[in-house]
Amino acid sequence: MDKTLLDALFQPKSIAVVGASTKPGKIGYTVTDRLIKDGYPGPIYPINPGASELLGLKVYPSVSACPGPVDAAVVVVPAEAVKDALLDCAQKGVKGIILITSGFAEIGEKELEQEIVRIAHENNMRILGPNIVGILSNTDKMNASFCPFLPFPGRAALLSQSGALVIAIDAATYSRRVGFDKLVSLGNMADVDFTDCVEWLAQDENTSCISLYIEGFRDGRRFMDIARKTGKPIIALKAGVSAHGAAAAASHTGSLAGAVKVYGAAFTQCGVVQASDLDNLFDRVLALSLQPPMRGDNLLIITNGGGIGVLATDAAERCGIPLKFAPPDVQAELKKHMPVFGSAKNPVDITGMAGPDWYLDAVRYALTHPWLDGLAVLYCETAQTEPLEIAKTIRQAVTESGVTDKPVCACFVGGERSLKAMQWLVESGIPAYAAPDTAVNAMAALYEYGQMRAAVAANDIPSADPAARGAALKIIQQARSDGRTALTEIEAKQVFAAYGMPVTATRLAKSEDEAAALAKQTGFPLVLKIVSPDIIHKSDAGGVKVNLKDEAAVRQAYRDILQNAKAYKADADIHGVAVQEMAEWGAEVILGSVNDPSFGPTVMFGLGGIFVEALKDVTFRVAPIGVSQAAGMMSEIRGAPILAGVRGEKPRDRQAMAAVISRYSQMVTDLMDEIAETDANPVLLYEEGKGLKVVDARIILKKK
Ligand code: ACO
Repeated sequence: MDKTLLDALFQPKSIAVVGASTKPGKIGYTVTDRLIKDGYPGPIYPINPGASELLGLKVYPSVSACPGPVDAAVVVVPAEAVKDALLDCAQKGVKGIILITSGFAEIGEKELEQEIVRIAHENNMRILGPNIVGILSNTDKMNASFCPFLPFPGRAALLSQSGALVIAIDAATYSRRVGFDKLVSLGNMADVDFTDCVEWLAQDENTSCISLYIEGFRDGRRFMDIARKTGKPIIALKAGVSAHGAAAAASHTGSLAGAVKVYGAAFTQCGVVQASDLDNLFDRVLALSLQPPMRGDNLLIITNGGGIGVLATDAAERCGIPLKFAPPDVQAELKKHMPVFGSAKNPVDITGMAGPDWYLDAVRYALTHPWLDGLAVLYCETAQTEPLEIAKTIRQAVTESGVTDKPVCACFVGGERSLKAMQWLVESGIPAYAAPDTAVNAMAALYEYGQMRAAVAANDIPSADPAARGAALKIIQQARSDGRTALTEIEAKQVFAAYGMPVTATRLAKSEDEAAALAKQTGFPLVLKIVSPDIIHKSDAGGVKVNLKDEAAVRQAYRDILQNAKAYKADADIHGVAVQEMAEWGAEVILGSVNDPSFGPTVMFGLGGIFVEALKDVTFRVAPIGVSQAAGMMSEIRGAPILAGVRGEKPRDRQAMAAVISRYSQMVTDLMDEIAETDANPVLLYEEGKGLKVVDARIILKKK
């Protein structure tokens, strides 16, 4: 993106306030007041046809009447007056509209909202909002909002869909001592959205970390593309955990896909760290805005208290960075900086006797050792030590070590003195927390960021397969020409096979004699299944007979299935009965896809059979994905040990499975305009080297 397109919103050289009320307490008055009092250096033009002077500034009747150029306009007139205000701005050549006014799409006025976006785009203007609090920037001394002050200074940025949260976070930046350079309220995102702002902030030299409060993306794929390319940490707090889209799902996968799982997958894929709540967002922003990523999992904890060391150890395990003992040379050196009853393992307990010198020596040495990837320094307030002195010592040790590419987080457990020490440490660039688990969780954010960036860099996304797509489209078009949106199992398997997936041999019999003949050709044992676009859940309809060992069993099964199907749904359109090879049994897994409203085609993998029903042990990725991401899906389900081989069972063919998941993801991406949902369930996964087989297949088409 051309960065300059949003410059007028983020760094305007002059600002008009359209609707600058002369009445204190009104938003237009507050915005003008804040721009002046927080020191905005450029010209401020209050606009109000009914006034001549406001807060010592000359008031103009319209934007076009302003004497100098106007870069941005904060619009605070009622919704019905916004169109005219925008036309006035356009006449003056305004580029950025900060549209605070409410009363648009959020109350159903979608057409009015579209109309103002159209006016803006026709006149080369970009709109932030509507329905926002405004935008704040410390660097630019710009409080173009009705927030009471600029945030506590720092290098983080916040993009928030909630305006109220911007106001709350603005105040909390002071009590939490977490520094922000920019706070941006996005509101309805009628024009400028998360992705536009992330793209701009990625190029902003005053932003080191971008935090997001998200209710929903309009175009999740575009966000993922930009986030992947952003060289700065992004941290997201996703609100709204309802399972959108699940209600109308026709497939297993559809009913299991919820917003949280899909968003979580998308964030992982594009290297975005997640926060669990508002507190956690602050904690993680502090670490990500001040420290480099943690590139490996060798975390060392140095503490003067055994108890806080144990709490930190538990937290490390919970956060996915379980502690390891430091190598012998590290232990030997650290032993020199503690009493004999200290411990140099990990946590390194330099004991309650530890004064500044021991902290200095231990921290300085540990940081320079190649084994270490990250360091958490814990301190419990004691009567013999002064917390501020310990804080200064930690800072000194980090500086003297000369190490800048390994993260350090600190924890000070105590009272007022510890609080002051922490504030000092944060202001000197080292994140400090009041509890050991919080400090370790912040370190985990740096670890997750390091891991995800490495995974994003090792991108092995497959490319489109036009030949397979062409073959699949022919089958889909046939179904559409019959007026169907559900493919039969045979058709679905043909689509899967076109994409190179191993499916059980399945052929259609339209009579009992034909079934008997096909059975002889295929070989026993066999499975017979009803083929009807009107019967999706075949077993429920008594439409499946397994382990048929001879012709007589096949003939009997054929008759039973037809009878059951008619009893289940008298007017069902029955194509016949599928005669299917009975695959040798293996570990049952499920593969599927949905079309997520924000992210489009999204694949699911998990343990099948009763596991998917009872435990919902499944995981998602936005398609397409490469084999490395697919392998990651297999290792992150709870049932991963079953696939790895437990209690003497041989490991399953995870390599073959990863390749098929990747192909599957390519299939649903290539056919995203056609396919709504799919299931391959069960897929039988055999021992290593023996591959897998898709036993049942379902494809539901989009309604057109
Ligand atoms: N050009 C310039 N000035 C104008 C124009 C115009 N076309 N029309 C009216 N004005 C003046 C008015 O005369 C008035 O000034 P005065 O008080 O000196 O007479 C001033 O502009 C404001 O107009 P009002 O009609 O008094 O509007 P009011 O201030 O009551 O409301 C507002 C306007 C704030 C935009 C309101 O419509 C609104 O949308 N409020 C909600 C905003 C909001 O909360 N947004 C954030 C949501 S996020 C969250 O929840 C925190």
